[in-house]
Amino acid sequence: MLLNSLKLKNIRSYTEETINFPEGSIILSGDIGTGKTTVLLSIEFALFGIIRGQLSGSSLLRHGKNKGYIELKFSLEKSVIIIRRGLKRSNKNVIQDAGYIIINGKKQDLSPTELKSKILELIGYQEELLTKSKSLIYRYTVYTPQEDMKQILLEKEDERLDVLRKVFNIDKYKRMKENTVKYVRNLKMLILKFETRLENLEEKKKEQDDYKETINRLDKEAKKEQILITEKKNELNTEKETLKQYEKKISSIEKAKTEIEIIKTKIGNDKQLLKNNKIDLEDINLRLSKSNKETEKTENVESLNRKNEELKKKKELLEQNIDKIKDRESKFGALKNNSESIIEKITSLESCPVCEQKVDTDYKKQIHKRENATIGDVASQISKLVSLKNKRIVELEELRVQINSLSERLKSQEIIFLKKKQFEEQKTKKINLLEKQRKLISKIKIEEQNLLVLVKKVEDKKLLLKYEKSKNLLEENTEKIKEKEIKQAELLREKKTLEGISSRLKEEIEKKEQSKLELIKVRDLQNWMLKYLLNIIYLMEKHILLRIHNEFNEYFQEWFNILLEDENLNVRLDETFTPIMEQNGYETALENLSGGEKTSVALAYRLALNKVINDFVGTIKTKDLLILDEPTDGFSSEQIDKIRDILDMLRIKQVVIVSHEPKLESYVDNIIRVHKEEHVSRVI
Ligand SMILES: Nc1ncnc2c1ncn2[C@@H]1O[C@H](COP(=O)(O)OP(=O)(O)OP(=O)(O)O)[C@@H](O)[C@H]1O
Ligand SMILES: [Mg+2]
Repeated sequence: MLLNSLKLKNIRSYTEETINFPEGSIILSGDIGTGKTTVLLSIEFALFGIIRGQLSGSSLLRHGKNKGYIELKFSLEKSVIIIRRGLKRSNKNVIQDAGYIIINGKKQDLSPTELKSKILELIGYQEELLTKSKSLIYRYTVYTPQEDMKQILLEKEDERLDVLRKVFNIDKYKRMKENTVKYVRNLKMLILKFETRLENLEEKKKEQDDYKETINRLDKEAKKEQILITEKKNELNTEKETLKQYEKKISSIEKAKTEIEIIKTKIGNDKQLLKNNKIDLEDINLRLSKSNKETEKTENVESLNRKNEELKKKKELLEQNIDKIKDRESKFGALKNNSESIIEKITSLESCPVCEQKVDTDYKKQIHKRENATIGDVASQISKLVSLKNKRIVELEELRVQINSLSERLKSQEIIFLKKKQFEEQKTKKINLLEKQRKLISKIKIEEQNLLVLVKKVEDKKLLLKYEKSKNLLEENTEKIKEKEIKQAELLREKKTLEGISSRLKEEIEKKEQSKLELIKVRDLQNWMLKYLLNIIYLMEKHILLRIHNEFNEYFQEWFNILLEDENLNVRLDETFTPIMEQNGYETALENLSGGEKTSVALAYRLALNKVINDFVGTIKTKDLLILDEPTDGFSSEQIDKIRDILDMLRIKQVVIVSHEPKLESYVDNIIRVHKEEHVSRVI
């Protein structure tokens, strides 16, 4: 990782400023309180955000401002990364505001925690070393704050060792040891469990053998029973077949009996029919002989009809003639009445109603004569007509008598015709009856023959006895089979129960055998863990620690000797990585050393630690960057000169040194000057 630039907005003494970082060694120079440390803290904040107990928002956001941000641009291998984190005041607290990361121009808006995870992933730091134990790697390799420089040396032995174990990831050996011991303890419990489980294995095996024997015996007995059952069943099947035959015969006899009854009824019916038929025949014969005589008197109906027509015409003519005579008779009657009325009128008439002259008696006589002569004529005419009419009436009466007798004869001819027809019908009926009689006789004959056959068939008396015997035998055998089957089922049930017990026992034994094998394995494992694994872990840890210790110790002594050329003051690291100082052959405590000596020990320790971590923790990508804040506090002028050698020896691509030591400026490649005016810092 190489720093490119840092943009600050409302951060401590800065209102708005951008600081560019070139490659090589850089000195951040400026008077006390001008804003140098602020730059370093800002870089750390840009990378990891607020770190509880170490880097707070309120220590960064400029007093009196509600919002600010820090934006860091850096290159990592071939990538250019810009990360920005905001700060904002809320109530009395300062919290992190929204931020983002731009990797090779690709921007991602992320929450503070997401940003931190992203950065840790990019620079190859183990996340737990940041969250649980501060930003240890960064603080021990890249940047140790001014005040913390000596802190690590003053910490308690075990705490320091604990921290270093974490940094170098040796902690895992301790965990491995603890876990192995825990695991061995569990194995012990497991062994105890297996041993208890194995206690009665032999007894169980014996028990299993006994069960197997009984099962075999039961199996043999059940098979024997099965053979007997099969034999009996075969016998039973033959018997069933015979019985079936008998039943068939019996059922056909029963059928025949019913048929006999039916035939008998039929014969009875047919005989009755025959009897009725005979009666009908006799009746018909009688009728036929009778009607034969009745139909003998036949006449010619046609000539009778013709004569009847003629008589009817005659009668009609006669009736017309009588009507004419009656007509003429009434006309003559009218003439006579007219003449009699004239006579009567003239007799009583005195004067003429027209001329009112008196009617003369002669005239009256004259009129009487004339009218009497008319009355005489008319009377002779009427008497002639009456005698003619009477004659005609007699003739008409005769005619009627003739017509009546003729129609009587016609009627009797019609009756004769019907009787003849009936006679013919009776004849046909007789023929039918005779045919029916013949058929009935032959039918009865056949039926009687059938009856004879059936009756013979029905008379098999031995069959029923045979049938009963066979049925009893069958029932006996069925009963026997049932008994045998029950016995066999009992045997099989017992066998199955025992098999169940035996199979459970088998499983139990198998499990025990399995446990036996596992016990061996677990014992082996326990042995291996106790004898070898723990040893190996111990050795590995020791080996790594030794390597780290050796390297650390070498670098520590080397840097120290460079910084302080005092033959009387020697340093080394003990096994807990505590620096031991020997002055004139006597061990002395850190606090007894002079300010410059203290700074030398601290810086040598810091540089050695940086080198060792970078060597041992391969994943980290911040090896190109080193930041030192006031590393020369209390140094003599000669010691300050040593910084130049150190920079050469470090061979780190970018080193940022904060110092207000003007002498240092000539040793570095770049100078960044910080200046503060009216509490606003600027870079010049
Ligand atoms: N929250 C803040 N708001 C405004 N100013 C602050 C805030 N915190 C600290 N300061 C001031 O900002 C200035 C810069 O501080 P900084 O620690 O960066 O100085 P420095 O250059 O490192 O000084 P020294 O050389 O003494 O270490 C100081 O005057 C400090 O008191
Ligand atoms: Mg400072």
